[in-house]
Amino acid sequence: MSRNDEFRKDEYAGSDRRQRTSRSDRRQFFAAAAAAGFGAYALAAVPLAASEEDEGDDVSAAEDLMREHGVLNRILLLFEEGLRRLRNDGQEGVTPELFHAPAALVRTFVEDYHEKLEENFIFPEFEKQKTLGDLVGVLRQQHAAGRRLTDTVLRTAVADQFRKEGARAELASACRAFIRMYRPHEAREDTVLFPALHKLLPRKRIQEFGEQFEKEEDRLFGDEGFEKTVDHVAQLEKQLGIYDLGQFTPKT
Ligand SMILES: [Fe+2]
Ligand SMILES: [Fe+2]
Repeated sequence: MSRNDEFRKDEYAGSDRRQRTSRSDRRQFFAAAAAAGFGAYALAAVPLAASEEDEGDDVSAAEDLMREHGVLNRILLLFEEGLRRLRNDGQEGVTPELFHAPAALVRTFVEDYHEKLEENFIFPEFEKQKTLGDLVGVLRQQHAAGRRLTDTVLRTAVADQFRKEGARAELASACRAFIRMYRPHEAREDTVLFPALHKLLPRKRIQEFGEQFEKEEDRLFGDEGFEKTVDHVAQLEKQLGIYDLGQFTPKT
């Protein structure tokens, strides 16, 4: 048995699924609430909720990973804005924190959570079934490369380093390499790897992954972990003046 299999087995052994509030649990709750509160309407609502569960849960694991890519994309925009300010040579406010805060989010949310799910649940399925092996190999290498780049950003984006020109150059280079790698990385996962998962595994298995992902999210980040992370990203965007989406619309 591989280490990944052991990891999954232990996770299952330690879980009390009756106490968990999974997405499907919540659907059942809403179906029951509709039945209790909306009279005749509930007769229509309950079968609808059940059919949504049947058809919806098989995409939930991939959807989870894809919306986490949305967070990563917003972090890349934060790095880009930091780099733009750095190029302007301090004419706009640029502090090490502008880089350190998004890099810390990369470490906790992307590398220690999102990528662990991919490495422990998704990639092994492709490796076991010898499907898309080359792609998975590159994705694994890029996760490792990303961690090295984040190490560099976290080390150089601190006050005593940031005032040195050499360290700022190292920081900028690491951010640029990170952005350059992760855009194609996540795009390939979204368009090739995750869609292939549905051909590779039965719906039930993907559904179980979705439940495991949510459990891990709760364990690491508490209730509403994804929403809290999005809020954190939005705060950082506001600090950098890139939160207002309308500013990106062409003026013509
Ligand atoms: Fe990945
Ligand atoms: Fe990913």
